[in-house]
Amino acid sequence: MIELRGLTKRYGEKLAVDGLSFTVRPGIVTGFLGPNGAGKSTTMRMILGLDAPTRGDVRIDGKHYAQLQEPLNHIGALLEAKGVHGGRTARNHLLCLAQSNGIPERRVGEVLEMVGLTAVARKRPKGFSLGMGQRLGIAAALLGDPDILMFDEPVNGLDPEGIHWIRTLMQHLAREGRTVFVSSHLMSEMALTAEHLVVIGQGKLLADTSMSRFIEENSRTYVRIRTPEPERMRDMLIAEGLRPSPGEDGAMEVEGDDAARIGELCAAERLVLHELSPQRASLEEAFMRLTAETVEYHAHTGPEAVAAEPASPAPAWGADWNRGKDGKG
Ligand SMILES: Nc1ncnc2c1ncn2[C@@H]1O[C@H](COP(=O)(O)OP(=O)(O)O)[C@@H](O)[C@H]1O
Ligand SMILES: [Mg+2]
Repeated sequence: MIELRGLTKRYGEKLAVDGLSFTVRPGIVTGFLGPNGAGKSTTMRMILGLDAPTRGDVRIDGKHYAQLQEPLNHIGALLEAKGVHGGRTARNHLLCLAQSNGIPERRVGEVLEMVGLTAVARKRPKGFSLGMGQRLGIAAALLGDPDILMFDEPVNGLDPEGIHWIRTLMQHLAREGRTVFVSSHLMSEMALTAEHLVVIGQGKLLADTSMSRFIEENSRTYVRIRTPEPERMRDMLIAEGLRPSPGEDGAMEVEGDDAARIGELCAAERLVLHELSPQRASLEEAFMRLTAETVEYHAHTGPEAVAAEPASPAPAWGADWNRGKDGKG
């Protein structure tokens, strides 16, 4: 378990990480999502004690990283662009790490096998492809058979096969009961990998929710309608038990995928349509909207309020807009 409490990091004028509080739990993959520059790597460095927090606290199974005896046995990490000694063979690189953490030599062969590098164990990493380098970094993270694993943008620059391999590995490690914390700036990647989601923007917590709930709340289907007679349209839709709400640029939106039924109603009522189109908001769009609005969000609501309600897509005044006409408002 990793616990952050008000974790904050300031670099001069820049608040890179701003009061983050959340818990990363065992048995699932937790995705750590945010656009580039959001503060993911800085947070991960503080978890590992490589950077000191300006304020707040982070603990690994109740302890600070520095208090862990033989830390590789508790937490293994692949940081972004991890430097490996280019002149040492892959096997020797792992052997050095093992020896300094009291890990038996046979474990080096095991992790090389797990990441599929046995055939190149005696080659130097400077000749490795990006994917092989990532595999070596993951082998190092697995060396101490730790209960907690942390990967910073592990699929960056990998081919589809490498991405699939890492995704499968992370899910396997979580199923073994480990804590798996993985960062990405791509929603589409996280949607396939993580069961829980922590979203940050400009160092602040924007959402801490299950992936299924995030998808449920954000993969909205609706029908967009444009008409020169919005009043009649609205009355007709409400009379049919539908709930129109105002969309962008004067359009009207109706939840669901009932475009055909709405078209037939319009024909029956001789109501002119300029547009009638089924829409689907993608998770990527929901993520972009959530993170792009960081500053505005926090001008109105505290982080807790936003965390409980990630990217509510419908305008807050949609309900009132309906009520006004049906006489109940
Ligand atoms: N060592 C540093 N010195 C100054 N600013 C930094 C340093 N490390 C990161 N930053 C800044 O902090 C912010 C967060 O960076 P980072 O944690 O790398 O974001 P992410 O990993 O989400 O892309 C960025 O604005 C970055 O420029
Ligand atoms: Mg980063």
